[in-house]
Amino acid sequence: MGRFPEDFLWGGATAANQYEGGYDVGGKGLSTADTMPGGKIRMQVMFSPEFNWQIEPDKYKYPNHFGIDGYHRYKEDIALFAKMGFKCYRLSISWARIFPNGDDLVPNEEGLAYYDAVFDELAKYNIEPIVTISHYEMPLHLVKEYGGWANRKLVAFFERYAQVILDRYHEKVKYWLTFNEINSAFHFPMLSMGLAGDAARDMGTVFQAFHHQFVAAARVVKYAHELDPELLIGCMTLYATSYAADCNPVNVLANEQQKEEMNYFCTDVQARGEYPAYTDRLFKKYGVESLEVEEGDLEVMFENPVDFISFSYYMSFVVNVTDPEAAKAAGNLMDGIRNPFLKASDWGWQIDPLGLRIALNELYNRYELPLIIVENGLGAYDEPDANFVVNDDYRIDYLREHIEAMADAIEDGVELFGYTPWGCIDIVSASTGEMSKRYGFIYVDLDDEGNGTANRYEKKSFDWYKQVIASNGENL
Ligand code: BG6
Repeated sequence: MGRFPEDFLWGGATAANQYEGGYDVGGKGLSTADTMPGGKIRMQVMFSPEFNWQIEPDKYKYPNHFGIDGYHRYKEDIALFAKMGFKCYRLSISWARIFPNGDDLVPNEEGLAYYDAVFDELAKYNIEPIVTISHYEMPLHLVKEYGGWANRKLVAFFERYAQVILDRYHEKVKYWLTFNEINSAFHFPMLSMGLAGDAARDMGTVFQAFHHQFVAAARVVKYAHELDPELLIGCMTLYATSYAADCNPVNVLANEQQKEEMNYFCTDVQARGEYPAYTDRLFKKYGVESLEVEEGDLEVMFENPVDFISFSYYMSFVVNVTDPEAAKAAGNLMDGIRNPFLKASDWGWQIDPLGLRIALNELYNRYELPLIIVENGLGAYDEPDANFVVNDDYRIDYLREHIEAMADAIEDGVELFGYTPWGCIDIVSASTGEMSKRYGFIYVDLDDEGNGTANRYEKKSFDWYKQVIASNGENL
């Protein structure tokens, strides 16, 4: 027997707002992602007190408007995924394609038909879709008119949206994820919660928005299970393995608390169905007085935990509270202390394959639920030659070491059922809006300024991953 289960789901992952483009076609409404400027200033702009979801073409570029034109080229891309042997493909549905304003009573049929066509194309090649219901965007109107997830009304709007897509696609899609990297809101509540300005800085508002998302997600789990018992619904968390800087108990305790907050809080709620015991400590830390909880909220959460846990893993961090001078490391939407034992990517994200084995063991031992890694990969500058050949051995090395770590974790006893490396085709980066931060097995001819043909080219890692899948993870 091989190291990976026979039916292991090898694949890749993208998100609508970074992939599709076509931001104003097919009846789609504007989404929050359409207001995200391109470039390294993206997060800074969105976290500035004056950011108010405006589109300012004189000031900024908006690379998500075109994405990589997946809206028009998805057939070509799916054929390439099939050529690599993908068993699954994680994608997200753009809420604003289905409900252009978010509070509409009737869905946009053109948007629904678009995803039907995508799922049918995947089915042609026996590629199992894994669908994120909300990946870092929502209809812009919900933010402008209602203030995003701080408003209780979002629960019903989300429920309506989720019910429509579950009804429509449940025979085509078995695996569903509710909110992408739900816990990222501890750092950037603009992306998943649609909070900006003062609201984004007020942790009381953030926790209230979390509560609304927990209730909404639990209601979706309930609805999905009643609709079709075959459906499997997961949560999705940003997981960064975290180490104490040394054995000073002060750092060890700080690390444990950091893990509870960042890695576990949301997953504890969604997997166990209730707020964890340390919730009051978190509230005290952030000066949160109380939450507005409606009758039935805690029951629906308790009765509808998720079926599996999905997570992203790119890097690890160190927690050091005893040395205020300790050097910092960058990361996806958060930062921590640098680890002298690790190398980092071109963007400063610390590369730690063993940290993935640790993450898998920590998550599995805590919840004993099946796990799937729905994001992992190396954002790097690729340099194609004149024929668009990219020899991305650095990417192959990164992925190989992480797949080895997965095999080791499975041997440790972890139930891991799939792996979808991030940005399997180059797409617009979430944190910086750059095209030059590439993760893909497929090179897309577009630069940060939007120049290029958007044509697709297989990188060296394309053939390598094909052989990994064909050998079910043996031939690395
Ligand atoms: C995760 C997100 O944070 O990391 C993705 O779910 C994102 O949307 C990915 O693209 C990689 O981050 P970045 O900033 O390099 O695109």
